[in-house]
Amino acid sequence: MDFMISLDNRSPVPLHRQLYEEIRKSILTGRLTAGASLPSTRTLALSLGVSRSTVTQSYDQLISEGYLQTYVGSGTKVSEHLPDDLLQVAPPKTHKLRAEARKTPSPKLSRYGESLADAAPFEPTEPRMPIHFKYGIPALDEFPMDIWRRLLLRHCRADRSRLLDYAETAQGEPGLRAAIVGYLGRSRATRCTADQVIIVNGSQQAIDLVTKVLVDRGDRVALENPGYLGARRSFLAQGARLEPVPVDEQGIIVERLPARSSSQAKLIYVTPSHQFPTGAVLCLPRRLELIAWAADAGAMIVEDDYDSEFRYSSRPIPALQGLDENENVIYAGTFSKILFPSLRVGYLVVPPPLVRIFVRARWLSDRQTPTLEQRVLADFINEGYLERHLRRMRTLYDRRRQTLSRSLKQHFGDRVTILGENAGMHLMARLETGRTDEEVLRRAREAGVGIISARIYYLTDARAGEFVFGYANVSERKIQEGVRRLAKALKKTCLNPENE
Ligand SMILES: Cc1ncc(COP(=O)(O)O)c(C=O)c1O
Repeated sequence: MDFMISLDNRSPVPLHRQLYEEIRKSILTGRLTAGASLPSTRTLALSLGVSRSTVTQSYDQLISEGYLQTYVGSGTKVSEHLPDDLLQVAPPKTHKLRAEARKTPSPKLSRYGESLADAAPFEPTEPRMPIHFKYGIPALDEFPMDIWRRLLLRHCRADRSRLLDYAETAQGEPGLRAAIVGYLGRSRATRCTADQVIIVNGSQQAIDLVTKVLVDRGDRVALENPGYLGARRSFLAQGARLEPVPVDEQGIIVERLPARSSSQAKLIYVTPSHQFPTGAVLCLPRRLELIAWAADAGAMIVEDDYDSEFRYSSRPIPALQGLDENENVIYAGTFSKILFPSLRVGYLVVPPPLVRIFVRARWLSDRQTPTLEQRVLADFINEGYLERHLRRMRTLYDRRRQTLSRSLKQHFGDRVTILGENAGMHLMARLETGRTDEEVLRRAREAGVGIISARIYYLTDARAGEFVFGYANVSERKIQEGVRRLAKALKKTCLNPENE
């Protein structure tokens, strides 16, 4: 393939960045078309006279933004169908920004700002569907709003100066931190005191703080592949070098981590309770291996326990935080999935030596989480409402999950493999349809059904035909109807794509 790429050694823009720009431009202008194969990193490095790591870095960035895909055994290719938002929304904005930057030297973005300007859009542009298997949304209709309202009113009558003034500490309300310690001890076997808990605005802020405090530009961060985009975006924005680690039905494959002695990874980010998106639950032996690896490699583990509360067929496995003896685990939890996402309350549990630094970073970020919500939540936990709500939701989600699993098997038979259904609020289905993922999504959309392709969650070695189905906020009737519509929309193609 003739690339016609020219790199400028004298430019202040790093070579990997220039190469990234050139390839991206070629894709956006259609010089490189969907499905086109790219040269191997070695070949391109040789032909451009640059190091192989320069090419690898540019490829990694383009892969993580969805422009390129790697496939087992067939190298790196331009993504078959670029998501519309990459083609329509981001490029004009980015070009405009860059054009303006060229005209006027200021405002000159920081490297952090630059990486955000270049990133693919964060917010989904998916239209709402009549039946939407959106992941990560709890059953919103079931939230006990009457209880919440009563607790809110109770606290609104409290001393105004303490309620409305800045909080005394950015760490969070002591009452809520104590309630969280009690709750975690009962449900997750963590070992910590309230002094180690820092209240944050959701686990995304937790990940962002961890990144700022622990990761420097160029640092290596290991993460699950496929894995959670919110974490990947944070690490990339900070300029981290990502080290994808494959996942199987038992979670992250610890033995595929770089050798302990040679690893320079500073951080490893994992979702052990319900791997995102495959749903695998990390088994106990691997948890212990991971902890040993981190101790030897001198790396911190970030344990994102986003929907650990929902387990259906086995007892919970203790959190890494409780198993670790070396103060190497930072635990992140959230109320987005057990209560509601717009609450924006989550928490970090950090090893004692790091607390002071994290609280300062928390202060710099946005001072505090609103006091009123923290106090209401503390009562909600202490008065037993949280665990009651959880019990109800576990039963409800279990029914919904079984209905989804049954419907998928009924309509797709041996053309579906279901993964990760024993925990959480979503499952992943491998569908054999004989069509591209984009075609499946388009047909689903036309039938009024929203599902998500798992491809975007892969950093490398993406698999086709994997889809994420969130079920917690979808009624059983809608689940059945959604799967029926999906199967109908794909049926002819599954049986005989030629005869449509
Ligand atoms: C794996 C994972 N971690 C973290 C989050 C972020 O949750 P929060 O709303 O607490 O920021 C999500 C959201 O869906 C998630 O899937």
